Amino acid sequence: MAVETSSADRERPPGGEGHYGERIFRPGDSGEADRIDHGALAYDAITLARLRRLGAGPGWRCLDVGAGTGSVARALLRDAGVAEVVAVDRDTRFLAEDPPEGLTPLEADVLADGFDPGRFDLVHARFVLMHLPDPARMTARLAGLLAPGGVLVVGDAVDLTTGAAPDGPVTAAVRAMWRGLRDTIGTNVSWVPDCPRLLTEAGLESVAAEIHVPPLEAGSPISRFWADTWERSRDAMTATGLVDDEGLDEALRSLGAAEFAGFSPGMLTAWGRAPAPAN
Ligand SMILES: C[S@@+](CC[C@H](N)C(=O)[O-])C[C@H]1O[C@@H](n2cnc3c(N)ncnc32)[C@H](O)[C@@H]1O
Repeated sequence: MAVETSSADRERPPGGEGHYGERIFRPGDSGEADRIDHGALAYDAITLARLRRLGAGPGWRCLDVGAGTGSVARALLRDAGVAEVVAVDRDTRFLAEDPPEGLTPLEADVLADGFDPGRFDLVHARFVLMHLPDPARMTARLAGLLAPGGVLVVGDAVDLTTGAAPDGPVTAAVRAMWRGLRDTIGTNVSWVPDCPRLLTEAGLESVAAEIHVPPLEAGSPISRFWADTWERSRDAMTATGLVDDEGLDEALRSLGAAEFAGFSPGMLTAWGRAPAPAN
């Protein structure tokens, strides 16, 4: 896959006028929380290990942006022992279910002009910026919510293999998924490898990044996540002309087969720290 990183490409792509959660991935659709949780199960251990290595622990005030079902927010409180997590989402129905002490659900659109929930030691956004227009502007906005010395951690999908993979049902499905999501809700992952530079341009220091690609084992959380995502995106995927219903069904069967040996798209996590005042 060619990685496009022109500034024009970082804007909302043409055709992507809809928003996440409207035509696709509606929180009220049956099973949507389970779909998010399958993705979370595939990545939470990696995310939490990174957040803890960056210092998340007792006393920290944290903001989880686009918090979904709140798996990261809850783990920050339970396992890392942070003081507080403000979990913001356009739709907080999953966060409001039995929130532990220290978890504050906040229903808000992070694109809104007045969005300003305070200053935090940690601002985290996973699989959110890829669905929003203008990631450079969003990165700068999130960096502006850091307390001095605070850390911004951004995780988004990175697809290292589909562009070069041999043609086959799963390859066709992944290509159709990226195109279909881009056409309907504006999802764009082409800028993700450029994320560390966006953090640097946002004024952050000690910027670094890592990539994790979970194995596509039959029945694994990531396989179930993709199967579920493709079923929900079926119309958008077939509308691209890159895959038809039959081809998609074949891709779903391949994904569930024990002998399937392809690669999943992965997650690029990038982080950087707000300058701390000199002592
Ligand atoms: C793919 S889910 C990721 C959930 C969670 N961060 C995780 O990794 O498990 C994207 C989340 O971002 C939220 N979201 C999308 N656009 C948003 C916006 N403009 N403002 C606030 N939340 C938004 C969605 O409602 C959804 O819960």
